[in-house]
Amino acid sequence: MIKLSPSILSADFANLGRDVMEVDRAGAEYLHIDVMDGLFVPSISYGFPIIRSIRPLTKMVFDVHLMIQDPIRYIDEFAKAGADLITVHQEACENLQEVIHAIKAAGCRASVSVKPNTPVSVLFDYLDQLDMVLIMTVEPGFGGQAYLEFTTEKIRAISAEIKRRGLATEVQVDGGINRNTLDTVLEAGANVIVGGSSVFGKDIAGNIQELRTIMEKYEK
Ligand code: DX5
Ligand code: ZN
Repeated sequence: MIKLSPSILSADFANLGRDVMEVDRAGAEYLHIDVMDGLFVPSISYGFPIIRSIRPLTKMVFDVHLMIQDPIRYIDEFAKAGADLITVHQEACENLQEVIHAIKAAGCRASVSVKPNTPVSVLFDYLDQLDMVLIMTVEPGFGGQAYLEFTTEKIRAISAEIKRRGLATEVQVDGGINRNTLDTVLEAGANVIVGGSSVFGKDIAGNIQELRTIMEKYEK
C-alpha cells in the first residue's frame, strides 16, 4: 500500500492541533515530523514538547525525521515523546549500526536517510534491518523547495535492490513532492510519500484527495 505522510513543517503552528486532526480525518497514514538542530542543517524547527503535545490527538504513525548531528544522543527521548518510526541521516551518524540498534531497542521502527548527493549504496549493508529508507529529493533543511530530478535514479536503484532481496523495506521520498512530481517518484518505486507545502494550506482535505487520486494509479 502506498502511504501519505504529511509534513507538519508546513502546518499552521498557531493551529497545529487542528491541522494534525485534519490530515488524520483526510486519511493520512503517517505524520511526518521534521526535527532540525541548526547544525546538521542550517535551520532549527521543533522538538520534544511539540511531539508530546500532539501525540494524544491521533493514532497516525509518528514518522520522525531527525535532521540532527549524532542522533544517538536523543533516540530514547524521541521514543518516549511518541515517535513510532525514527529516521536518522547516514551522514549524521558516527556508528550507524549502533544507532539502528538504539532505535529498535527503544521500541521504534528504524529508518535511514541519505541526502541528494550521498549514494544509496551506503544503505546496502543495513537494508535487511531497516523498516524504511528515506531518499531526500531536496537538500534537507527547508520546506517548499523544488524536486531534484537527479534523485529519481536513486529511488529506482534502492527500490530495485529491495525488490531483488525480497525485503519489505518501505521507500520514502521527501522534498518537492506535489501533483506535478508525484508520478515520477511513484513510477520509480517510492511507496511512502511526504508532502509539506503540497498538503498544508487552504484546503488540506482537497489537497490530500488530489494526491491520493494520483497514488491510486500505482496501487498494486
Ligand atoms: C525538508 C523536510 C521536508 C519538508 C518537505 O528538509 O525534510 O519534510 O517539510 O517540504 P515540501 O514537501 O514542501 O518540499
Ligand atoms: Zn522530512
